[in-house]
Amino acid sequence: MLLVRGGTVVTADCTRRADVLCDDSGRIAAVGPALEAPTGCAVVDAGGLLVMPGGIDPHTHMEMPFMGSVASDDFQTGTEAGVAGGTTTIIDFVIPERGGALLAAWKDWRAKAEKAVADYSFHVAVTHWDEQVHADMGTLARECGVNSFKHFMAYKGALMVDDGVLLRSIGRALELGALCNVHAENGDAVAFLQQDLLRRGLAGPASHPLSRPPTVEGEAAQRVIAIAGLLGAPVYIVHVSTEEAASAIAAARARGQRVYGEVLAQHLVIDDSVYADPDWLGAARHVMSPPFRPRHHQKALWAGLASGQLQTTATDHCCFCAGQKAQGRDDFTKIPNGTPGIEDRMSVLWHHGVRTGRLTPQEFVAVTSANTAKIFNIHPRKGAIMEGADADLVLWDAEASRTVSAATHHQNVDYNLYEGMTLTGLARHTISAGRLVWSDGDLRTVRGAGRYVERPCFGPDMAAQARRNEMLGGAGVDGPAP
Ligand code: URP
Ligand code: ZN
Ligand code: ZN
Ligand code: ZN
Repeated sequence: MLLVRGGTVVTADCTRRADVLCDDSGRIAAVGPALEAPTGCAVVDAGGLLVMPGGIDPHTHMEMPFMGSVASDDFQTGTEAGVAGGTTTIIDFVIPERGGALLAAWKDWRAKAEKAVADYSFHVAVTHWDEQVHADMGTLARECGVNSFKHFMAYKGALMVDDGVLLRSIGRALELGALCNVHAENGDAVAFLQQDLLRRGLAGPASHPLSRPPTVEGEAAQRVIAIAGLLGAPVYIVHVSTEEAASAIAAARARGQRVYGEVLAQHLVIDDSVYADPDWLGAARHVMSPPFRPRHHQKALWAGLASGQLQTTATDHCCFCAGQKAQGRDDFTKIPNGTPGIEDRMSVLWHHGVRTGRLTPQEFVAVTSANTAKIFNIHPRKGAIMEGADADLVLWDAEASRTVSAATHHQNVDYNLYEGMTLTGLARHTISAGRLVWSDGDLRTVRGAGRYVERPCFGPDMAAQARRNEMLGGAGVDGPAP
């Protein structure tokens, strides 16, 4: 057993002085003032620290095969980096090859993830449509603890699906009580703009953002919101990076549609000036999709988080080292897309969010764990501090600072997006399933200790939507008035 003594417990709902007792099954046994330490119980001194739910990163890609490479952080190193930064759960993505079976891919990813040191779950991507996909979605939802399916509207010729697939898949997920996630970028427009830039001899990484301007994202966000609206289905848009997409989400929510938006920590603080780096590698290291944006978009993203129109923060953690990025030396469209960040998300959000007054500490908990747990139906097991919840905690030092560097980080990648940035607010101790896995800079993880987290379908939002659709005769928000 482990007793966290003398801290200030902060959840999305309240802040209070309390101790937290974790039992040997990895759950919270008690929360309250001045708890007794049972005999033999280890005690962690949380004096002067905030005790918050461990972070949940709803968007990571550990050891993902992508664009001719495999992401360099695997499930062990990636989850180790996570706990060093206060994140105790990830939701990664099962991505079947084009035409490949979903269930077989889910089994492959389960095997890869067995080395994880902290808990993990999976969204499963739908990358084509046929009867087998329809059947596998049912099996995954009913028997495998998968309550979310992912769709890429970009990456033409690889992962991209068209509107026909989106309609079928979102419709199928709705009947299963599962939520659809969407990477919203118009893949045809991207491919067209990429070819145009290459034809004009503009083959460097500076062309990457030019091939994916804000309209490309805004159009796709509006389109998938319209498609989901036609079906009466909730939809979750990953890595919202523009004011255009954020506005589309806010407008849909104002019409009564259940639309959720996720923001990446890096999009909140890094802008598109990174692509002007005269050093090829310096710019290529920032090639991810959607790209970094002109500064005014950051304001919209922060406002979205503060207002609740955007609900979650993630990293899209997808690491490629210099040799891998170099695949695109002569052609920016061949640079593997992706950036690291799981280790620094919580600190970036605290330093730039809470310390600047954009977010309260409770809102910080909401956007780093609780909202994700609610949307993906694992609340209050995750994202909460209460009796019976998983004992996943971060003991946060709100005043301590560190300077970020690839030389000291735990991510298995040769650069850090935030290199040289001094951040105040860090994970002093991290507890995963009742075990101290990070303590004062010391990693104490156990390979394979992470557990697969099953997420049941028909969470509160999906169940409410099903009732709503029944009342409206199955026509969603465009149906007749009740
Ligand atoms: O550039 C990115 N984001 N790479 C990972 C795949 C994706 O689009 O999420
Ligand atoms: Zn994406
Ligand atoms: Zn704009
Ligand atoms: Zn991603």
